[in-house]
Amino acid sequence: MAARRVVVTGLGLVTPVGVGVQQSWSNLISGKSGIISTLTIENLTDIERAQFESIPSQVVGKVPAGSIADGKWNAKEHKDAIKDFRRTGLFSQYALVAAEEALKDANWLEDLDEKSLLNTGVAVGSSIGSFEDVYKNSVDFNLNGYRKVQPLFVPRLLNNMASGAISINYGFKGPIHSVSTACATGCNAIGDAMRFIKDGYCDVMIAGATEALVHPVAISGFARAKSLVTTYNDQPEKSSRPFDKDRSGFVLGEGAGIVILEELEHAIKRGANKIYGEVIGYGLSGDGYHITAPDPNGDGARRAMLSALRTAGISDSPEKIDYINAHATSTQLGDRAENLAIKSLFGFKKNELFVSSTKSSTGHLLGAAGTVESIFTLLALSEGVLPPTLNLNNVGEADGDNKSDFIFNYVPNQAIKRDIKYALNNSFGFGGVNASLCFKKM
Ligand SMILES: *[C@@H]1O[C@H](CO)[C@@H](O)[C@H](O)[C@H]1NC(C)=O
Ligand SMILES: *[C@@H]1O[C@H](CO)[C@@H](O)[C@H](O)[C@H]1NC(C)=O
Ligand SMILES: *[C@@H]1O[C@H](CO)[C@@H](O)[C@H](O)[C@H]1NC(C)=O
Ligand SMILES: *[C@@H]1O[C@H](CO)[C@@H](O)[C@H](O)[C@H]1NC(C)=O
Repeated sequence: MAARRVVVTGLGLVTPVGVGVQQSWSNLISGKSGIISTLTIENLTDIERAQFESIPSQVVGKVPAGSIADGKWNAKEHKDAIKDFRRTGLFSQYALVAAEEALKDANWLEDLDEKSLLNTGVAVGSSIGSFEDVYKNSVDFNLNGYRKVQPLFVPRLLNNMASGAISINYGFKGPIHSVSTACATGCNAIGDAMRFIKDGYCDVMIAGATEALVHPVAISGFARAKSLVTTYNDQPEKSSRPFDKDRSGFVLGEGAGIVILEELEHAIKRGANKIYGEVIGYGLSGDGYHITAPDPNGDGARRAMLSALRTAGISDSPEKIDYINAHATSTQLGDRAENLAIKSLFGFKKNELFVSSTKSSTGHLLGAAGTVESIFTLLALSEGVLPPTLNLNNVGEADGDNKSDFIFNYVPNQAIKRDIKYALNNSFGFGGVNASLCFKKM
């Protein structure tokens, strides 16, 4: 039996640069930033404002509030996607809305018969689930006791509820999965779903990840771990600057990305609207090194990329890779380690290899980063435009960088038109998890 091939036939996005794929992509390639000051979030209570003011990092990648007509977020406009607001945490709401867009895009929504429903699975992950509900119920319990804990606390909280809600909303009855591997979640969700299809569990998977962690306690946690930027509170749009001299920590972001993965023959036979690209490789590795810091030479990242090339069947021709959507979160150590890892595999390509980090526009969506950035990578393949790395004025000149290691084209500040055929997308997470996906233009 010939190996089953897996392609992407639908996309859906809710991101700090917009709600909807068109809105997010056009803002991204025109160099707009989705990063704002936490003090300008709409309708903060006085207490919340004081809490945000007390945190040294005051920038965040927030899904913009407003009407869907302007590519912004108003949950009430999504009554078809979000059937029951009381049971649905914000992270699940983002996933439901992105899933609806992706299903419509793939034309895999109308008049599905029982066989099709049984043949469709869901794999949507999150790194933390509904943090806001944990906070609220803990505070209420502490102040007022047992009877103040919400009966819907648990269903709103669980990480797998985004997958569950999508499956229940549409009646999908294939495999249900929910991976949680910190910042590699979205990458693992796509990779695992791709394996399910390849192994014949089903022909269609709704895959992706979602995160809604813009909360003072969550931001405090990352700030206390010294992971967040604190030097650009007055200029939020300049705060995320991967590979730049003045990078000094990441910007927390929120949102969701969902893709429809489909077995190639299935997609062709039913006349899918569009094939954005093929998922040809999926690499995984562990650092075995430290809970939050990367191996300084990027060894785990190197092995994940190598494994993606190997499963893609192109490990003997790495020159094929034209573009890498880097994990680069704008931390000194992480960006440097990833750059060294890329150099160890692709150094011979020098500035013929394009490497950009869209976190400069969106911030770091944690679990959702893997899918959102995979979607940007697929659009780069299908549209022939490479998204820019914003705020990149002095490449590789931070303390500890060796400028001569930064040899690639990092697409500084402006998108570049370029037809590409193969792309890699990297994701690395706390706990030493590294994952990489390889996509090919059809
Ligand atoms: C803020 O409050 C106004 C007035 O109640 C409301 O119209 C708007 O939707 C709110 N915005 C958000 C983001 O909740
Ligand atoms: C794509 O690149 C982004 C950058 O982090 C990364 O977070 C994401 O995990 C990558 N996606 C995949 C599928 O590797
Ligand atoms: C910087 O890297 C270059 C090339 O890899 C190497 O020759 C040089 O010794 C390095 N410089 C320092 C200060 O490590
Ligand atoms: C591999 O995963 C670990 C998990 O923390 C991450 O810290 C590290 O950044 C990744 N490796 C590299 C070189 O990025």
